[in-house]
Amino acid sequence: MAIKTIIEPFRIKTVEPIRWTTRAEREKLLEQAHYNLFLLPAEQVLIDLLTDSGTGAMSTGQWAAMMLGDESYAGSQSFDRFKNSVQGIFGYQHVIPVHQGRVAERILFSVMCKRGDVVPNNTHFDTTRANIEHTGAEAVDLPIPEGREPANPHPFKGNLDVAALKELIGRVGRERLPLVMLTITNNSGGGQPVSMENARGVSAVCRQHGIPLYFDACRFAENAYLIKLREPGYAEKTPRNIARAMFALGDGCTMSAKKDGLANIGGFLCTNDDRLAQQEKNLLILTEGYPTYGGLAGRDLEAIAVGLQEVLEEDYLRYRIVSTAYLGQHLAEAGVPLVQPPAGHAIYLDARAFLPHIPPRCFPGVALAGELYLEGGLRSVEIGTLMFGEHAEMDLVRLAIPRRVYTQSHIDYVIEVILEVWKHRETIRGLRLTYEAPFLRHFTARLEPVA
Ligand code: F0G
Repeated sequence: MAIKTIIEPFRIKTVEPIRWTTRAEREKLLEQAHYNLFLLPAEQVLIDLLTDSGTGAMSTGQWAAMMLGDESYAGSQSFDRFKNSVQGIFGYQHVIPVHQGRVAERILFSVMCKRGDVVPNNTHFDTTRANIEHTGAEAVDLPIPEGREPANPHPFKGNLDVAALKELIGRVGRERLPLVMLTITNNSGGGQPVSMENARGVSAVCRQHGIPLYFDACRFAENAYLIKLREPGYAEKTPRNIARAMFALGDGCTMSAKKDGLANIGGFLCTNDDRLAQQEKNLLILTEGYPTYGGLAGRDLEAIAVGLQEVLEEDYLRYRIVSTAYLGQHLAEAGVPLVQPPAGHAIYLDARAFLPHIPPRCFPGVALAGELYLEGGLRSVEIGTLMFGEHAEMDLVRLAIPRRVYTQSHIDYVIEVILEVWKHRETIRGLRLTYEAPFLRHFTARLEPVA
């Protein structure tokens, strides 16, 4: 087709106003928020790219399904529809609903991990790492070396280093590895996909040693579409078949339906292990609720059941990936350093390269995110030294794109704001901490500019 303009594969039925602030107002607001954008009131943000989690727009199909929500405490029909939708894609025997992804993590690791254990992953997301460490186990990141190089255009930088996994198993012993995880896509490593070939390699090593493999499946549909686009042999396959083939390589998954579930809340934990499932359901009942709702309303289960199907539609995924790439390409053409290649849910600016005069200990990512807010009311998030402390391999600023929310002209505005900041980057100052919580400190940290 000769027409190049990207259009959203939907039309808009309900609108939500967003509001402008002046630069003077934003300067005051940023200071009041202690230079931490998590502490800003959302109504003072023009374009909110803090996260793609729970911020998507639901479809008419989802809203209609919500009216069918069966709010029965036990045995709700909504749970049956939810379970069927999940199983049709993920294929696992037990489906345990939870109110968001980290609950699936907490329950899974409470049941499987103990002090002294080691859990490898391509790269653990912050909640995943924190929930593993909370059991006394150690969370180890094993991305391929290319995954640590922002400018490297390798198509599957989310891959796990299979040789490093074998070395780890040999060194610490199989008994200390209760499970291996694979995060698709690798959010903390730039939203990069994992190839089918890599998942097969990881699965083979796990099976050889009898170690269960679990997927952190938050962005499984984007990962499947990137396999279709980038991995030889998959161009003719549907995203659904690619996703099913990948999940068949594992023994279970954790999922935040706030991402590729196209829902505003929810998630699930899946396993093929009957004994584990029983223990997990017991824990679920303790803090979340009965196993046919898991802390969700019946209508939430309905929204997820429909969302999981819509997210695999090719028109949607094509638009999603092309729109993110458009943002990345326009920035890269102007010389802005970012994690290459552009992936699914976000563009990640390389703050260490953007602000080489600010050392990592002065939080270049937080400084850059603050400046994007001052310049144009954008909210983004640092994924770097503030989030991970000494574990941070990179200082990135993530511009996460909520699903089906912003239009191409919003994206054009975002590009313009970033290019303005790029022009005056030498004037941006680093920051120091004035308050930090003992874990997950980035959510509540307070900072101030250094002279
Ligand atoms: N795993 C990954 C890869 C994630 O990106 C997230 C959440 C979770 C697990 C936890 O899920 O929020 O539903 O409890 N990521 C959000 C983000 C918060 O902004 O990337 P949750």
